[in-house]
Formats: sequence, C-alpha cells, structure tokens
Amino acid sequence: MKIGICSDHAGFEYKTRLISYLLGKGYEVVNFGTDSTDSCDYPDYAHPLAEAVEKGECNLGIALCGTGNGMSMTLNHHRGIRAGLAWNTAVGKLVKEHNNANILVMPARFISYNMATAIVRAWIGTEFAGGRHQRRIDKIQP
Ligand code: RB5
Repeated sequence: MKIGICSDHAGFEYKTRLISYLLGKGYEVVNFGTDSTDSCDYPDYAHPLAEAVEKGECNLGIALCGTGNGMSMTLNHHRGIRAGLAWNTAVGKLVKEHNNANILVMPARFISYNMATAIVRAWIGTEFAGGRHQRRIDKIQP
C-alpha cells in the first residue's frame, strides 16, 4: 500500500510525524511537500498528490492544512479524487464507508496529533460499503 501525503505550512508538523507513523506501520509513503513551516500555498501541494492518486501511482492520499478546506476544495477539482474532510474517528470511518474517500483531509489547526493518527487508522481500516452509497457517488459529477 503506497500512501501519498501533503500539507501546507499549517499541516507540516503533523505531516512529518504522520510520515514516521505510517512508515513504522509498514506503509510505503510518498511525500509531496511542503518541506518547512514557511508560509506557502496549499494548491501547489494538493495538485501533485491528486495527480498521483488519479494515475494510480499512490493507492490513497492524506492532506493537511489549517482547516482542511483549502486542500479539500483543490483536491476535489480532480475527477478521479474524492477528498473527504474528517475531524474525528467517526467521520474518518464514514468518509470511507459512505463516501469512499481516496484522499483523507484533516484540519491540523483544530485537532490533536493523536486524533490525526486515530483518524488515519479509522479511515484506512474501513471498507467502502458500496450499494446505495455507490449510487450517490455516481451522482456527484455534474
Ligand atoms: C493557512 O493560513 C490556512 O489558510 C490554510 O492552512 C488552510 O486552512 C486553508 O484552507
């Protein structure tokens, strides 16, 4: 399982820690930046991650910014991406079970690092339920 990950400056610290966490769990991780806490623009990191997931170069993706909104908005412009924002483990589970999110987005400024790892575990460990949820996903593209 290869997981791509990106953040802006607001998510940099959690991204760095999550990379170590995921490597420790045996996942392959591709880091799409940013590489410091210097102020930067989230689309510069979201687009390369989205493209890698769309092309199948990464199986799943994780993105972090301050609120999670900038990353979500940018990632969801890509046809092959369903980026879902999660701020607790219940939402992290449901964003896979109901929405089949292939990129998990988290609001680094509004959750603890321990919560971020718990959300990642919940999201990775949950299967998409299909059925009526697939029908709804099929209606997302206008
Ligand atoms: C950066 O200050 C902040 O705007 C960004 O991390 C994110 O929250 C945008 O949606």
